[in-house]
Amino acid sequence: MVSLGSEPSAGSVISGRNRWDRFLMGLLRACADAVLLGAGTLRATPGHHWTAEHIFPDMTTAFAELRSTLGRRPRPRLVLVTASGQVAASHPAVVGGATILTTEAGANALRGRLPDSCDVIEVGKEGRVDLAHAVSELRSRGHELILTEGGPHVSGELIDKGLLDEAFITVSPLVAGRDRETRLGMVEGVELLPGRLVSGRLLSVRRKEDFLFLRYGLRPS
Ligand SMILES: NC(=O)c1ccc[n+]([C@@H]2O[C@H](COP(=O)([O-])OP(=O)(O)OC[C@H]3O[C@@H](n4cnc5c(N)ncnc54)[C@H](OP(=O)(O)O)[C@@H]3O)[C@@H](O)[C@H]2O)c1
Repeated sequence: MVSLGSEPSAGSVISGRNRWDRFLMGLLRACADAVLLGAGTLRATPGHHWTAEHIFPDMTTAFAELRSTLGRRPRPRLVLVTASGQVAASHPAVVGGATILTTEAGANALRGRLPDSCDVIEVGKEGRVDLAHAVSELRSRGHELILTEGGPHVSGELIDKGLLDEAFITVSPLVAGRDRETRLGMVEGVELLPGRLVSGRLLSVRRKEDFLFLRYGLRPS
């Protein structure tokens, strides 16, 4: 489970704001050229910035040095996927600069609303964005290492299309439960088992306190 129904910022509730989970997210962001998100995650996370220093400020200097050593720009580019064009122009992460991946129809809905720090990539006319096409557009703009933080529908589509190389999964010891509200899992919008077998290879396991930090390879070997 990765969401708590209508609760905003569910990730930090589920992880109990675990320091090492935040460090790992910071480290991954520090290595990335771009951070790819669905518009649903942006809407569920008001006030967030998808940068290393925002999630783990204690290591701001070290993250900046790492980015410089890796030849990365000072911050990863935020990339937002939307079909509807419902992207809050006042969200601080959008104000800070974002690339919007959408269709011609989505771009029309956004026209005149975005700050100058944003740009729009149009993929197709309407409906959903073809994420395979979108990823190759991002690569052609120099975004080699793309980190996705989901959410569940974007993760589902990336896995469905074989576009996700690796998954970093934190297992939190908190017991969430489910009853009235829909609480999304890590992968939504696509059904794999029993018809399709997508299996990860466990690349590493770390334990800190009662949390497990798992890294899986998802590309067929
Ligand atoms: N715990 C975690 O690690 C974690 C991480 C991320 C998110 N979350 C949680 O997940 C929940 C949000 O779930 P979600 O599934 O709605 O998130 P999501 O996958 O980020 O957003 C779904 C939205 O993204 C857009 N989208 C996705 N694929 C698209 C495509 N191929 N073409 C065009 N647009 C596309 C659509 O936006 P439009 O509606 O604008 O068209 C769609 O409604 C929140 O509760 C959030 O807190 C948890």
